[in-house]
Amino acid sequence: MIVSDPILTLSGISKRFPGVRALHDVSLALKPGRVTAIIGENGAGKSTIVKILTGIYRPDEGEIRVRGEARSFASPRDAWAAGIAAIQQETVMFDELSVAENIFMGHMPTGASRLVAWPEMRERAQALLKRIDAVIPPDFKLKRLSVAQKHLVEIARALSHEAQVLIMDEPTAALSASEIDDLFRVVAQLKSEGRAIVFISHKFDEIFRIADDFICLRDGEKVGEGSIATVTQAQLVRMMVGRPVDQFFPKRDVAIGETVLTVEGLSNATEYADVSFSLRQGEILGLYGLVGAGRSEAMQGLFGITPITRGEVTLEGQKLSIAAPSDAIAAGIAYVPEDRQDQGAILSLGIRENVTLAGLTKHVKGLFLSRASEQAETRSLGRKLSVKAAHWEQRLAELSGGNQQKVVIAKWLATRPKVIVLDEPTKGIDVGSKAAVHDFIGELAGEGLAVVLITSELPEVMGLADRVIVMKEGRIVAEFKRGQWSAEAIVGAATGAGKEAA
Ligand SMILES: Nc1ncnc2c1ncn2[C@@H]1O[C@H](COP(=O)(O)OP(=O)(O)OP(=O)(O)O)[C@@H](O)[C@H]1O
Ligand SMILES: [Mg+2]
Repeated sequence: MIVSDPILTLSGISKRFPGVRALHDVSLALKPGRVTAIIGENGAGKSTIVKILTGIYRPDEGEIRVRGEARSFASPRDAWAAGIAAIQQETVMFDELSVAENIFMGHMPTGASRLVAWPEMRERAQALLKRIDAVIPPDFKLKRLSVAQKHLVEIARALSHEAQVLIMDEPTAALSASEIDDLFRVVAQLKSEGRAIVFISHKFDEIFRIADDFICLRDGEKVGEGSIATVTQAQLVRMMVGRPVDQFFPKRDVAIGETVLTVEGLSNATEYADVSFSLRQGEILGLYGLVGAGRSEAMQGLFGITPITRGEVTLEGQKLSIAAPSDAIAAGIAYVPEDRQDQGAILSLGIRENVTLAGLTKHVKGLFLSRASEQAETRSLGRKLSVKAAHWEQRLAELSGGNQQKVVIAKWLATRPKVIVLDEPTKGIDVGSKAAVHDFIGELAGEGLAVVLITSELPEVMGLADRVIVMKEGRIVAEFKRGQWSAEAIVGAATGAGKEAA
C-alpha cells in the first residue's frame, strides 16, 4: 500500500494573545481521504488552529505547507485560494443573499460583458448542491435555511472551488440526529473523493463515528495524537483533561419545596399548543424532545421573547402578564438561550460587564455601583462554571466558544432568579467543564432554585432531572418521574415510537 503524502502540514505552530499562549509548537498533518479530529477542552486552542489554517490569524511561529510547498496566508482569501475551506463555529455567510450568491461569493461566474451570469450561476449552484444530495433552492435567501442547510451550502461553496481541505468546527451543535446523519454521509463522500477533513466536536460518539485520526490539545500544546481505532473514550478524556473525569456527578438529594411556577395552556399560532406544567422549589424539570419539538419556542413564549396566543403563567400564586423579557426578569424568571451569539451575550463587552449587566441594581452601594461587589460575583460564578479567561475584564469576543457559553449562563444566574430555564446549557462545553456545570446546577437547586432544563442529551436529562416531560410536535406527550423512566421510554415518547407514559 502506498502511504499518501499529506495535503497540508502545520509544523511548530505557536500563537500568543495578551496573557495567553493559545498554541505552542503544534504540528499536524492532514492526509487525503482521512478525517482528523481535533479534541481538547474549552480554550485548548482548537478554533485558533482553524483560524490559522483559514488565514484569519497569522501564527507567531511555525510553518504551513500545502502539498509540500511552504505557504503563508495573509488573509482568508489566500487560504481559500490554497484550497482550504471551513465551516466555522460562527457562520460567516450572508443572510440577505441567495444560496447561489453565497456559494459563489468572491468568484461569481461572469459572462462576456463581465456582468454576473445569473442563469449560469444558479445552474452551477444547483449542480453543486446535487453533488451532495442537498435539496435547497438556489434562489432562497440564506436566512430562510436551517443551520443544517447552511452547513450544506458552505460545503457546496467549498466544492465550487474544489477545496481539498475541509474544516468543520463544531458543525453538529445545532443539528438534529437525522441532520447529523446527512452531514456525516456528505463527509464520507468528501473523504472518498480524497479530500482531507478536520472535525471538531465535544461529542465523543461523533468523533468515534466519523474520525480516522485525532490530535489532542491541552492549554495550547499537543498532548497526544494517533489513530482513533487505537484509543478509548476514557483515554481521550484523560488526555484532554489531564485526569479522569466522572462525566456525571451523582444527583444531589434536594428537598423539593412549594410550587413556584404554574404554566397553563401555553400556545402560540404555529409552534406549540397547550403546554401545561408546574414546577416546585429545588426541582429540576427536564424538557426532552427532538430538535424542532417546540421546547425552546414554548420557553421563549414563557419568557416574553415571542408573543403567545393563549396561556396563563402563575409565579408564587401571582398571575403574571409577560409581554417582554423585562417582565419575566422582574418577576424572577430567567431564560438562558441556546444561541449565545444572537441572544445571549455582548461580545464587545468584558466578562464582568456581561455577568452583572442584567442584575446591576444588586451592586448599587449608596449612589454608586460597587465595582468590588461586581468583581466578587463575577469571580465566584466564573470559577464555579470553570470559565477559562486571562482575567475577568477580558472581552467576550476573545474567549473561546465554550467559555462564552459559560459566561452567558453566569449572566442569567447573577439575576438571582426564582425560576431558570436552561436551553441546552452544555452545548459546546467540554467534558470536564460539563461536570462542573452539572454540579453547580445541582447546588443551585439545593438552594431552592427551580430549574427547567431543555436538553437533547439523554444522559444529561436522566442524570440531573427529578421529572421529565417530553414534547413532540409542539405538545407535551409524556411525563416521567425519576426512577420510573427508562431511556427507551423517553426516546420512544419523543419519537412517537412508543406510547408509554408514567
Ligand atoms: N482574539 C483573541 N484575543 C485574545 N485571546 C484569544 C483570542 N482568540 C482566542 N483567544 C484565546 O486563545 C485560547 C484558545 O481559544 P480557542 O478559541 O482556540 O479555544 P477552543 O479550543 O476552540 O475552545 P472551545 O471548545 O471553547 O471552542 C483561549 O484562551 C482564548 O481565550
Ligand atoms: Mg472553539
